[in-house]
Amino acid sequence: MADSIIVPAQTRQRSDAGTPGSAHVELKNLYKHFGEVVAVNDLTLTIERGSFTCLLGPSGCGKTTTLRMISGFMEPTSGELLISGKSQRGIPPHLRNTSIVFQEYALFPHMTVRQNVGYGLKVHKTPKVELEKRVNRILDFIGLTAMADRSPSSLSGGQQQRVALARSLVMEPEVLLMDEPLSNLDAKLRVKVRTELKDIQRRLGITTVYVTHDQEEALAMSDKIAVMNDGVLQQYGTPWELYFKPDNRFVADFIGANAFVRVRIKQLSEASVQLGIGEQSIELPRKTVAMDVEKQGAAAILSLRPESIHISSAKDGDEAAGNGSWRLVGTVAMHQFLGAYVRYWVQVEGQEVIIDDHNPKVRGILSGEVVLRLGETEAQLFPVE
Ligand SMILES: Nc1ncnc2c1ncn2[C@@H]1O[C@H](COP(=O)(O)OP(=O)(O)OP(=O)(O)O)[C@@H](O)[C@H]1O
Ligand SMILES: [Mg+2]
Repeated sequence: MADSIIVPAQTRQRSDAGTPGSAHVELKNLYKHFGEVVAVNDLTLTIERGSFTCLLGPSGCGKTTTLRMISGFMEPTSGELLISGKSQRGIPPHLRNTSIVFQEYALFPHMTVRQNVGYGLKVHKTPKVELEKRVNRILDFIGLTAMADRSPSSLSGGQQQRVALARSLVMEPEVLLMDEPLSNLDAKLRVKVRTELKDIQRRLGITTVYVTHDQEEALAMSDKIAVMNDGVLQQYGTPWELYFKPDNRFVADFIGANAFVRVRIKQLSEASVQLGIGEQSIELPRKTVAMDVEKQGAAAILSLRPESIHISSAKDGDEAAGNGSWRLVGTVAMHQFLGAYVRYWVQVEGQEVIIDDHNPKVRGILSGEVVLRLGETEAQLFPVE
């Protein structure tokens, strides 16, 4: 792929272009109803200029509907949508400076790659010389020059995906919208193409809203992620925030693996929180626990990342102390060796705890009775639903 920036800043900038990081796309109390179904429910979100933002959530949570409202293919039932501070109410898609790449990228089979990429400019009656210049520039940028005169059907899935992206980028949109663009690719190619996509986005500095239900894809690509469920925004933050400080159990569960353990809050003080798990108890420094439950005696769910728990054989005696006085004894029920780590399912007081040992070469595969300790990490306590 060529290193040059395909879209020079002066052609992309509009009179109303703001600085990177300023509000670019603003959704304010947006609703979309389909009869009884509330597909998008009171969505408020500010997307920064130049950022890569993912809309992430399970099937049917309202991602595509949100993207279509931004693109103008669908009008909100109520609420405001601003791009560069201007209300988009009643503005049709082709006047919005947005461009959308669909999951089914629908390339024209009877046209060459070059003709596919130039199609939008042709429809907009762009002069031939300029059209050719822009198409060549984008083909070069995206690494498709050598394939420019081939038919899309002779390309691999990843190459076709790049043609679809080139077709959008050549229009020099202010906001690039993508709806699960990688879902037709196999797992390995997805990882390769997502890295390319992210690189292109970064080099162009183009505001991008990307829809996916793949949490790993969202973590890998995004500056910010908006997690949705049932049309409702659950959390909006950086991948780091979502992973380490999930606002609720849905987010904790949706992003990354998690061990959820039913506990009872035995004692609460300024300094620490003591939790009971069956016959055993653990204590955590108060400042390392994000709590949604504040009542002594209450039942709660303790959420822990599998990699934050150390595991060792009970036979080896106790390793160095972990986070506060946190020690649990359990029995290995099952394990999977995954190369970089071993995932264990450990029974603790009749509950299952998932633990990833990222240093299997040191300990080997453990079985039987094990000791669990919490590393330097933060934990969350959520209410029992
Ligand atoms: N045109 C429509 N008419 C009626 N209901 C619709 C329409 N479009 C979407 N819905 C409903 O709105 C909800 C949100 O749909 P949407 O397509 O936005 O979900 P999504 O998050 O993109 O899901 P997926 O990951 O499966 O693509 C769903 O319950 C869906 O059935
Ligand atoms: Mg969808």
